[in-house]
Amino acid sequence: MLIAGNWKMFKTPSETAEFCAALRDREGELEETDVVVCPPYTSLHHAVSVLAGTSVAVFAQSVHWAAEGPYTGEVSPVMLSELGVTGAIVAHSERRQLFAETDETAALRVEGALEGGLSVIACVGETEAEREAGETDAVLRRQVETLRVVVHEDHLDRLALAYEPVWAIGTGRTATPDQAEEAHELIKGILDVPVLYGGSVKPDNAEELLRQTNVDGALVGGASLELDSFISICRSGATS
Ligand code: PGA
Repeated sequence: MLIAGNWKMFKTPSETAEFCAALRDREGELEETDVVVCPPYTSLHHAVSVLAGTSVAVFAQSVHWAAEGPYTGEVSPVMLSELGVTGAIVAHSERRQLFAETDETAALRVEGALEGGLSVIACVGETEAEREAGETDAVLRRQVETLRVVVHEDHLDRLALAYEPVWAIGTGRTATPDQAEEAHELIKGILDVPVLYGGSVKPDNAEELLRQTNVDGALVGGASLELDSFISICRSGATS
């Protein structure tokens, strides 16, 4: 079971150091769960230093595909690796909706990050309009298939997907366990890697979602910013 906290554009470097020190002190409560935190780029160094020697991994929230180049505002896999960052989220729906990420750039980033030795959590998911139009399956098939064709089979052990229905992100509206299970089953039928659920995961709904057969973990936004609620979700992962 993998629980990843996506901090989005929250927490300064000093707030990160404080949170990670408190998380380190409570590492014993994380039990068997694989735990990842994904701070903003400016906080990565602090997170890596404070969490050194613990089982908690530090991922970035995006990554470019090239090792270096004229790509203003971007950060490469080798730059993250040198910092001690071991993975990255790719193609979060906020990047797709607000920053013009496409299936094609998502595939480039996934491939580049895996080639560069990083682990990846690649996000897929339908919008509300797509779900209402009955297009959920087609959208997920297209998004996952675009990734499947670029991923080398030797790298599959470093890839996870996150099913994040866009209408459930930051809205307090969670997919039902059945909706999540159905989507995860479809995704795993195309690309057989761990699939995390994301979208308004909270301490009070985590256990039921994580209990579904094809739900292998969670990508948690808002509820990962507060230590008690993040640890509570991590513990749900251990018991589900
Ligand atoms: P949320 O965000 O848990 O705040 O809905 C999840 C995500 O965007 O990864």
